[in-house]
Amino acid sequence: MVANLLYEGKAKRLFSTEQDGVLRVAYKDDATALNGERKESFASKGRLNNEITSRIFTYLNDAGIKSHFVEQISDTEQLVRSVEIIPLEVVVRNVIAGSLAKRLGVPEGTPTKQPIVEFYYKEDALNDPFINDAHVLYLEAATEDEIAILKASALAVNDALKEMFAKMNITLIDFKLEFGRDKDGNILLADEISPDTCRLWDRDTNAKLDKDVFRRNIGNLTAVYEEVLKRLKEVV
Ligand code: TMP
Repeated sequence: MVANLLYEGKAKRLFSTEQDGVLRVAYKDDATALNGERKESFASKGRLNNEITSRIFTYLNDAGIKSHFVEQISDTEQLVRSVEIIPLEVVVRNVIAGSLAKRLGVPEGTPTKQPIVEFYYKEDALNDPFINDAHVLYLEAATEDEIAILKASALAVNDALKEMFAKMNITLIDFKLEFGRDKDGNILLADEISPDTCRLWDRDTNAKLDKDVFRRNIGNLTAVYEEVLKRLKEVV
């Protein structure tokens, strides 16, 4: 296979393919925290996140949510449609945790009455700051119409994922999405959905089944990602 590296991120590499408009994503074993300041490698992490993301994007597609995902082609690789990534992290929160717990001074684990959607500006040099709609427009990261689509899509993904994770005896606390524009300007869900990008708590014990075990040094990352994949395979 011709290896034409287009981009290397913290957790994935992106390659061109011989197919027009189709890219190959290779998931890495690296885990980073604190905007890349802390980095460690975990055998199997790339395989686990590739498998989990592939299954979740397939499930979302069946639920009517279009994404860049085409197909999984190996343990650690998938094909995706080429999109122009919108430089926003779209976060949806069902339960207060992480940075919002700190910002609002509310204990982690407090449910929200309705999902909270937030935008963060994807800019490593600024540490991906929290921004509002006016900032999104000022930065020309997205238009007013696109902001509405991003919010509605994020909430639709939340509805579908909450239902899926409930069947896995998992509470979907919060998660981060990224979106891109295809060549016709349609907005597609992109990037990945995995325990790297979601907070997932066991419904019975509230045990963390996500990257917080690495961020907070409180457990075995590979073991909890294996557990998520095991439960996922039972429902989708
Ligand atoms: P936060 O509480 O740190 O703002 O994170 C909210 C959610 O977004 C959580 O599920 C983790 C995810 N997330 C990412 O996937 N990438 C990031 O860079 C950040 C800051 C959060």
